[in-house]
Amino acid sequence: MAAFLAALVYAATRMNITVPTCVTDVAPFKEGRVVDKGNGRYEVHMVAKMWAFDPPEVRLPPGAEVDLYLSALDVTHGLYIERTNVNLMAVPGTVNAARVRFDQEGEYSVICHEYCGAGHHFMAGKFVIARGETGVQRAAPEAVAAASPGRELFEQKGCNACHSLDGSSGLGPTMKGVSGRTVELQDGGTRVADDAYLEEAIRKPSATVVKGFDPVMPAEEHTTEEVRTLVTFLKTLR
Ligand code: CUA
Repeated sequence: MAAFLAALVYAATRMNITVPTCVTDVAPFKEGRVVDKGNGRYEVHMVAKMWAFDPPEVRLPPGAEVDLYLSALDVTHGLYIERTNVNLMAVPGTVNAARVRFDQEGEYSVICHEYCGAGHHFMAGKFVIARGETGVQRAAPEAVAAASPGRELFEQKGCNACHSLDGSSGLGPTMKGVSGRTVELQDGGTRVADDAYLEEAIRKPSATVVKGFDPVMPAEEHTTEEVRTLVTFLKTLR
C-alpha cells in the first residue's frame, strides 16, 4: 500500500498525471454559450438545470447548422426542440449531442420532457431564427433567475409586498439569507429557519411571528407543491 501511495504521489506531483474528471465539470461544457464557428455553423453548449435552460434563448440566422451539446447541472432533464428531430436527455455527468439545421425562420420552443421537480412545467427555452441574428444570446443569466417559478409565485401570492429580497426591512422580515438563520420569535423562543420552519411559517404564520413584527401575515391556502416551490426559492436567497 505504501509503495502504491508513493507511486500515486510521484505520478501526480512529478509526472503531472491527473485522474480523469467528470466531463461536465470542465470547460467548455459547464456553462451555456453559443460559439460561431464560421460559414453558418454554430456550436451551442446548453446546460439544463432546475428549472431553466442556459442559454435560455439562442438567436441564429436562417440556414444555421448547429452542433448542440447538452449537459445537466443537477438532475436528469430532457430537451426537445419543436419542429426538429432533436430529442435528448440531459444527464448529469454526461454530454449528449445532436446536429440540427434551421432552414426556416421563426421561433422554435425548447421544452424539458423529463419530470425534474416542482418547476418542471415552467422549464422552457427557445431558438429564434431570423435574418441578421448573430448567434449571440440576448438574455442574460440573471434573467433566468428573475423568471424562476419560485420568484413568480412569491410575487403572485403577494409575499413581496411585505418581505424584501434585498435585506431592507418591511412589514415583515426580509427573506434575504433567511435559510438557516436563527429566528427570534415573539413568544421568546428561537427557531432555526430550516425547511420545516419555512413551511410552517408559510402555512401557519401566527405560530411563527418574528420578534419585532406585527402578526399581520394572513394564513392562506397553499398547495403542497406551492409551499415546496416557495421554500426552494427562499433557500436560493443567499
Ligand atoms: Cu427539467 Cu423537467
